[in-house]
This record gives sequence, structure tokens and C-alpha cells, in this order.
Amino acid sequence: MAKLLTIQGGKPLSGRVEVRGAKNLVPKAMVASLLGDEPSVLRNVPEIKDVDIVTALLQAHGVQVEHDRATGSLSMDPAKASKADSAEIDAHAGDSRIPILFCGPLMHRLGEAFIPDLGGCRIGDRPIDFHLEMLRQFGADVQKLPSGIHLSAPASGLRGAKLHLPYPSVGATEQVLLTAVKAEGITELSGAAVEPEIHDLIAILQQMGAIITVQTDRTIRIEGVERLRGYNHLAIPDRNESASWASAALVTQGDIFVQGAMQRDLTAFLNVYRKVGGEFDVHDDGIRFYHSGEALRPLVLETDVHPGYMTDWQQPMVVVLTQAAGVSIVHETVYENRFGFTNVLRQMGANIQLHRECLGSTPCRFGQRNFLHSAVISGPAKLKGTDFDIPDLRGGFSHLIAALAAEGTSRATGLEIINRGYERFTEKLENLGAEFELSRTSQPSFSTTGR
Ligand code: EPZ
Repeated sequence: MAKLLTIQGGKPLSGRVEVRGAKNLVPKAMVASLLGDEPSVLRNVPEIKDVDIVTALLQAHGVQVEHDRATGSLSMDPAKASKADSAEIDAHAGDSRIPILFCGPLMHRLGEAFIPDLGGCRIGDRPIDFHLEMLRQFGADVQKLPSGIHLSAPASGLRGAKLHLPYPSVGATEQVLLTAVKAEGITELSGAAVEPEIHDLIAILQQMGAIITVQTDRTIRIEGVERLRGYNHLAIPDRNESASWASAALVTQGDIFVQGAMQRDLTAFLNVYRKVGGEFDVHDDGIRFYHSGEALRPLVLETDVHPGYMTDWQQPMVVVLTQAAGVSIVHETVYENRFGFTNVLRQMGANIQLHRECLGSTPCRFGQRNFLHSAVISGPAKLKGTDFDIPDLRGGFSHLIAALAAEGTSRATGLEIINRGYERFTEKLENLGAEFELSRTSQPSFSTTGR
């Protein structure tokens, strides 16, 4: 029996939510504990599925993990780390992409690693070619098997290399960081990603004894060291969850205080928020986001790597733009297929057309190929409730806030995906005054054709 969320739309979301450690940092920090000779402690850890997946994967590799859910503190002791059974890795990995980041730490520790075929949100084909190319340049032998990938380090160990990323991939940058810190000699990575989560991972590695510098031209230099200690770190807050609730406040014409939201990591988002007509007040312990009562304004938006407008902020903002008075344009340049969620919004009455052209200031990697990666949104559109199946994490959140703003009833299946990145989601909705009911349905899921 699948979980069914039945939502009565039309009520503003108002109140306070707490945002804890970033989903796109915490699992990587957990993997980094494998590099240390001593135990590590990570604090401000949210209760999300991605943390449970990495906990199980670490335990499968003999790492002792204790997660105090109440305080959000996670302690990891890698002293007894060992090779894991590949079937066990496969069983725990689920649809997470994190297993690919175990490669470097496991090769340093055990001389080899096995990675099952990866999952992750369906927002593009999510290749790992950059990851494998970087690992080969460190000297790893990479064997593709029917069940996944086996990697082994040379007997003399992995060696630092001069590396370049053709695109500032977050995951591939993390792959290099987690491998270079104990590789022999210097590693220089040009074209690196520099997201706040990358900087927080660098801070953790530096605490462990790593020597890392980040230059302003996206070049990261790492001097390999023999051994690393443990760390004790407070994870940065989740800027994507903060931006999601901020968008929910605009879509439902509400007023939400996001405890933990950090202005420094939301600069590009806050600029767009202000341009679209949203109001926000920055406090020491969070940010208040609210609808000003005036009509929302259309705009031209282009996603980009940091410090640009983050691709994970695009989906909730598209829902906001369906309520703006005029025509908006959104050009998604990071993922080739991140507008699939707009089908449900159109079902609700939104006016959104998708295009193959790059409708933005700079042509991107997808312009001359067959990807619908630009959207034209005309508003304000009156939304009415519908049935839908949650497709992915951010698109699913966007469906839910659209349903909360829509007139009438919506029913949603696939709620488990939301729990991957939004902790205590239904509890937060309840605290914000949303009107909904959680039940079970024998109907596995709603097709996108809706009722
Ligand atoms: C991370 O994914 C985040 N996930 C994503 O958040 C985020 O959208 C993305 O970075 C961009 O900021 C986690 O951190 C767990 P990428 P990642 O490698 O590392 C191409 C969310 O909702 N690419 O920066 O997988 C890739 O196809 C998720 O929280 C290659 O071509 O993203 C994409 O077009 C969604 N080859 C672009 O780079 C590779 O080997 C950016 O991907 C790797 C990536």
C-alpha cells in the first residue's frame, strides 16, 4: 500500500520551519570519515533518507556509526573498515549517487573499491565519465562489470595529478578532493566546482590534516599527506531546502521564517526573490520570507553553477513564476531534462511552454541538441488541484507547493522521494498550517495524465 497525501489547497503557509545540515554536504562528509585514522563527529545532521543510505554503506564497510537523531549528531569510527560484500553495497545504495564517492577513500584504505550502477533523480542521464577519468589519472585501474565498476589502486598507491574538468561538476570535484588528500604529491584541479558544499567539505578535510587551497580561477590545489585524523564539524545548513520554503511562502501568499537559512549561501536566490517581488528579512538565526501583497513580477532567469542561480532552486521558482503577472523565461543550463515536472503544473492550469533553444544570455551545452531546456511561463494562472505522482526531489516539492496554492483537492503518491532531502516534511507542513491528510492507497501511483 503506497502512502497517499491528500491536500486541500488555497491556504497561505505561515509559521516557522527549521532547516538543518545540507543534503548535498552531509553524505559527502560522512564518506570523508573513511579517510581518517581516528573517529569523526558530524553535527547538525538532518533525518533524511540519504543519511540513512550512507550510514548503511559505511556500516557495510565495517565503520561504526552512531546517529543521535534528537541532537543531529553522527559519530563514525573507521578503525575496523573492511571490504564490503558487493551485494550488500547494491542492496543499500538504492537510487543514491553517493556510492561513487567511496572510490578514493576505499582505494586509499583497502586498495580497491566496488561501485554498483548508480541512481539519483531522473533529471538527465547523470553520467560519471568525469569521475572515472579523474580516478584513472590518479593511477586507478577501472574495470566496468555487468553489476557495476571495480577499481583498484596500484601497489605503490595513488599519485597526485594535474587535472581539468570540462564542466565544473560538483560530484567530480568532490571525487578529486576525497582522492587527492592522501594521494602522493600535488594534485591541481582546474575548472573545479566551488559551491558552498564544496567549501564545507574542504573545511572538513583541512580539519583532518589535509592541505588544500582554492584559487579564484576555479583551480584547487591539494598537497597529498600520509595520514589524516578525524574531524568534529557543524554542517552548513541546506540552502536548497531554505530556497524551497521561501518559494512556498510566495506561491501560497504566506509568511515563513526559515530557521537556519544563511544569507551568504543564498545571494543569487535572494536577488531573484527580490526581483520577482518577494520580501525577506535577514536575522541572526534565519530568514523571514513573505509575500508583500503586491502582484508578483515576471523575469528572465538562467541557472548556472555557483555563484550563479542554482539549478535546484529552479523548480520551486517556476511555480512562483506561474503566479507572476506577465511572461517569464527560464533557461536551465546545468541539467538537460529538468522541466519534466512542468507536465503536472500544466495539468493544474499553469501556462508553460518548453523549447529546445537556449532562451538565455549564453548558449549552453544543450542548445544544439534535442533537449527541452528552456521554459516560457505566462501568468498569473489560476491553479486547480489534480492527482500526481512525485517524479523527483525538487520537482516533487514544486508539485506539492503548487497543490497547496491550487484551488480544491490534490492527491499525491511517491512521497518517499521527498524524504530523501526534506526532513520531517509533513510535520513542517502541519506546523505551517497546511490542510492535508496522510493515508494509504492500493493504487500504486497516479499516471501523469492525472484524473
Ligand atoms: C550535485 O549533483 C547535487 N547532488 C545536485 O542536487 C545539484 O543539482 C548538482 O550537484 C549541481 O549543483 C548532490 O550533491 C547529491 P554535477 P551532481 O556533477 O554532483 C554533468 C538535488 O536535488 N556531469 O555537478 O551529480 C551532469 O550530467 C540534486 O539536491 C557529466 O557530464 O551534479 C550535469 O549536466 C539534484 N559527467 C552537470 O555535469 C560527470 O561525470 C552537473 O552535474 C558528472 C557530471
